[in-house]
Amino acid sequence: MSHIHVLFENAEWSAPLEAELVQRKLPYRLWDLSQGQFDLSTPPPEGIYYSRMSASAHSRDHRFSPEYADGMIQWLEGHGRRVINGSRAIRLELSKIAQYAALQAAGIETPRTCPALGRAAAIAAGRSFSGPFISKHNRGGKGLGVHLHDDVDALDAWFDGPDYEAPVDGLLLIQEYIQAPEPIIHRLEFVGGEFLYAVRVDTRDGFQLCPAEACAIDPGDNSRGPMFQIVEDFASPLIEAFQKFLHANQIQIAGIEFIMDGAGRALTYDINTNTNYNPDAEGRWTSGAPRGLPSVAAYLGRELTAAGYSGGMVDAAQ
Ligand SMILES: Nc1ncnc2c1ncn2[C@@H]1O[C@H](COP(=O)(O)OP(=O)(O)O)[C@@H](O)[C@H]1O
Ligand SMILES: [Mg+2]
Repeated sequence: MSHIHVLFENAEWSAPLEAELVQRKLPYRLWDLSQGQFDLSTPPPEGIYYSRMSASAHSRDHRFSPEYADGMIQWLEGHGRRVINGSRAIRLELSKIAQYAALQAAGIETPRTCPALGRAAAIAAGRSFSGPFISKHNRGGKGLGVHLHDDVDALDAWFDGPDYEAPVDGLLLIQEYIQAPEPIIHRLEFVGGEFLYAVRVDTRDGFQLCPAEACAIDPGDNSRGPMFQIVEDFASPLIEAFQKFLHANQIQIAGIEFIMDGAGRALTYDINTNTNYNPDAEGRWTSGAPRGLPSVAAYLGRELTAAGYSGGMVDAAQ
């Protein structure tokens, strides 16, 4: 029997996907990469692979899981295994510099960003911005490490303050702060390269905007409506631009975030190849259009068959 092999390090995010695979009676194996070993001299098990490795693994004490996943994906691809969100996806997942370079190459506008190595360099980069600016980690995730600074003095003081967290890979990005006329961003979800839906996210509570149920933060003021809302009939030239971008970068499943500035510029700033879907927003959505995880499970089932593995279904008893 050939399987859908799911590579992950966060069990909380994998459980809802597992439930969908079980419901569809798809044969699967979960590969927990929070630790492990494999034998490079043997071929990997038959089947297709789906990497759900996350840039924020370090925030769950899995500091080196991304490096381990990257090595494993080299092995899988070296043996010609189909890896959904494979080597190119993990490259982008782990580096916003790689994301922005690839977005720019695809003609997609990003906020002006200066990567900096070292405190003095970050301050020098900050001086090149006339207004407030953001600092964020090159290897990001869940909004951790994203801070707004009014000026370079504030940045300098932040380095010595309690909020400072060293970037995991040592690289800090100093980035133009996009002042949105409304406190919202949009996140466009794609599965199998196809556009699924757009979510509108209320940003008034800060920069931690992970949509997974397990990441929920206290919403603060309940009177203002849900933080995540699916937008019916979302239309934008960005849909096609993102589709082309994902295709060119061999990324099959992703959520891509953009923000509109006061001049109507759409600036793309985050590609989540390990995307999560907000169950409350999907629950409130009355349209019959497909939901995130059922779409992912159905796509994995189709890919298993397309890769030449028959027997895409197993008995519930197995
Ligand atoms: N340049 C920016 N201008 C304004 N807000 C930003 C900017 N960059 C990030 N943010 C806010 O911070 C959140 C987290 O930033 P993001 O780059 O997505 O980091 P992560 O990869 O950790 O999710 C964004 O969703 C957005 O609300
Ligand atoms: Mg983000």
